Amino acid sequence: MRIADSLLVVGLICPWLVWAGLDENAQGFGEYADQWRPDPMHEYWDPERYHRPESGRVEGVFQGEACLECHLVVTPGIVKEWRSSRHAQAEQPVLCPACHGADHAQLSLPGVKICGGCHPERLAQMEEEKQYGFPSHALAMERAVDSRHFADKPKAEVTACLQCHSVASKCDSCHTRHRFDAAEARRPEACITCHSGPPHPDDEAYLAGAHGQRYRQEGKNWDWSRPLRQGNYAVPTCAYCHMKDGNHQVADKAVWKFGIREINPESAENQIKRKRWQVVCVDCHPPEVGAVFFRALDVERSESWRKLYEVERLLKGLRSDALLTPSARERPPYPMDWLARVFPRERIGFYEGQASAFYNVSAIERDYFELWYFTNLGLYKGMAHGAGEMVRRYQERMDDEVWAIREKVGRMIKKGGVNLVPLWMKGEYTEFNRDHN
Ligand code: HEC
Ligand code: HEC
Ligand code: HEC
Ligand code: HEC
Ligand code: HEC
Ligand code: HEC
Ligand code: HEC
Ligand code: HEC
Repeated sequence: MRIADSLLVVGLICPWLVWAGLDENAQGFGEYADQWRPDPMHEYWDPERYHRPESGRVEGVFQGEACLECHLVVTPGIVKEWRSSRHAQAEQPVLCPACHGADHAQLSLPGVKICGGCHPERLAQMEEEKQYGFPSHALAMERAVDSRHFADKPKAEVTACLQCHSVASKCDSCHTRHRFDAAEARRPEACITCHSGPPHPDDEAYLAGAHGQRYRQEGKNWDWSRPLRQGNYAVPTCAYCHMKDGNHQVADKAVWKFGIREINPESAENQIKRKRWQVVCVDCHPPEVGAVFFRALDVERSESWRKLYEVERLLKGLRSDALLTPSARERPPYPMDWLARVFPRERIGFYEGQASAFYNVSAIERDYFELWYFTNLGLYKGMAHGAGEMVRRYQERMDDEVWAIREKVGRMIKKGGVNLVPLWMKGEYTEFNRDHN
């Protein structure tokens, strides 16, 4: 009877129902905590930090199946998904309150801690990534909010960041709610939601390589309920390689990592990581295949870095000759960057921090940024995933871009500086944000 009454109440108040807003005073966190404020969506992307239980709309403590009676009406899709999950079918079913709590005025949205309460090994594996530094799933949230451009840029341009970087704060990114299906997570699509787009075209690379081609042809007929172990799959998917044997740890093999700086693959630490990689390949190939493959990757990387360094040197030459116009001194300063304000200087390359200083720049510096961040990273990902045609295409693009920059530098030296005012000079990324983020 009580439930039926409550349903009536829900029906009456329904027209006025709005999903909970974020607390008006909710603050940012991380290095630039006082420079940005969370969006309403952060309640879902970082629930342990930002979810605020609603109060007043639905009151009462409901145990077990009682939640279903309303939610069959309120959110029928969720109940259906949940019913088809292992959670619902387990010997001791994992009911709604196990993840959300029983008191409707104090509901929680589960982040990694609640899932980790019942799956401690999986959470521990993910946490282990932290010892390998960036990038990693476990550190993705702090990495994003600690990027200067996250706080600098107009809100509308950075709202998407945390949708992907929330992989750190909740477990429903690879096995989505409310089925929490391991089979779904084994497929490349589970990763591609986030591992796509210009600086990390992992989807394009994998699907163009021999493994991905085969997956595209046959994947729809495979039995995805089988764990990612030797013998179960003809070709590997993302998780087969990067989460070997289902280990929820994606960082312990990464040598070139994101690809934005040169590293020494011969270091003792990287040799150990390479051995871990080769163990993956010998599930299906003779050991030579892995050895040859990684040698080729390292050769491609050092060749690309030779070209990138050449361009860096050209730009540093323009800087010494004061030919970068407008100069750092003439640009509106980055709001977050006190150093750039007191000591304005054009930053070139990874070690000077160009990765966080790339929009408020002269045109030729932006050209270099695109070469380094988009073309170089695409080339690397193509090579790392055996996508021959993509490698060829990106190599050609890199050569074209290097050539164009060289030409432009030549013209700038001849004319004593070319004043190309870039899009980013109007100040809308600077003054405006200070007031609006
Ligand atoms: C009396 C009907 C009723 C019952 C019983 C009920 N719910 Fe709800 N629930 C609702 C309605 C209506 C909403 C959406 C309105 C709102 O925002 O409160 C909702 C919203 C939610 C939300 C979304 C909260 C958010 O912040 O986005 C969750 C999670 C939830 N319910 C879980 C549960 C769980 C778990 C139980 C059992 C312990 C339960 N509900 C029992 C009616 C009910
Ligand atoms: C195994 C844990 C788990 C169980 C069991 C579970 N949920 Fe959820 N639920 C989640 C997660 C994770 C989210 C997403 C949290 C986020 O976005 O940060 C979620 C979100 C929700 C939401 C928010 C609306 C949205 O956008 O999806 C509602 C409503 C909800 N759950 C209702 C239910 C109901 C009703 C049940 C029982 C049939 C249930 N949940 C069972 C984990 C669970
Ligand atoms: C109250 C304990 C409990 C909580 C909390 C919990 N789980 Fe589970 N989980 C289980 C049980 C029990 C099973 C089923 C094991 C079985 O099949 O016997 C399971 C199974 C799974 C599976 C395997 C599904 C498959 O297709 O094989 C996944 C994935 C999973 N849980 C993810 C999650 C995620 C993500 C969360 C948090 C949103 C979560 N679990 C929260 C107890 C829990
Ligand atoms: C919800 C978004 C999301 C999903 C889904 C996702 N990732 Fe990621 N992944 C990220 C982000 C964001 C980073 C970079 C984090 C950082 O800034 O440190 C990352 C980093 C990585 C890295 C780099 C680790 C390193 O040390 O270099 C690997 C490998 C990786 N993910 C593999 C996968 C695989 C495999 C899947 C699918 C099974 C997957 N990811 C699914 C968002 C996601
Ligand atoms: C489409 C999903 C997606 C979006 C949107 C996204 N990222 Fe990422 N980000 C990733 C993935 C995936 C990686 C890791 C790629 C790899 O290791 O190859 C990454 C890497 C990074 C890294 C480098 C990590 C490192 O330690 O080297 C930083 C910093 C970063 N992202 C910040 C941001 C910011 C700030 C935004 C918003 C402007 C953003 N990201 C938007 C998915 C995304
Ligand atoms: C980057 C993608 C990704 C993320 C994030 C992720 N999982 Fe998984 N999960 C997988 C894959 C892939 C499998 C299948 C592994 C296999 O086949 O061996 C899996 C399987 C599982 C299983 C079933 C296998 C088992 O352990 O019995 C559970 C439980 C699970 N995950 C829990 C979690 C929890 C808890 C979290 C959050 C801490 C989480 N997952 C986050 C990709 C992910
Ligand atoms: C055959 C195994 C294999 C498959 C399948 C695979 N990768 Fe990779 N991936 C690699 C190798 C090898 C590297 C380069 C590793 C290095 O330099 O240490 C790499 C690099 C990466 C990186 C950069 C970080 C790192 O670990 O070095 C990301 C992110 C990534 N892959 C994501 C994906 C995604 C997403 C998919 C599926 C769409 C995928 N990979 C499929 C083998 C694989
Ligand atoms: C689960 C089995 C499996 C694993 C693991 C695996 N491969 Fe493969 N690989 C295959 C199969 C099968 C093919 C042939 C695909 C086709 O063309 O139909 C292939 C093709 C290749 C090719 C293309 C060869 C050619 O003749 O064009 C390369 C290169 C390659 N793999 C490298 C690797 C590397 C490097 C690793 C480890 C990082 C790896 N593979 C892991 C099964 C696997």
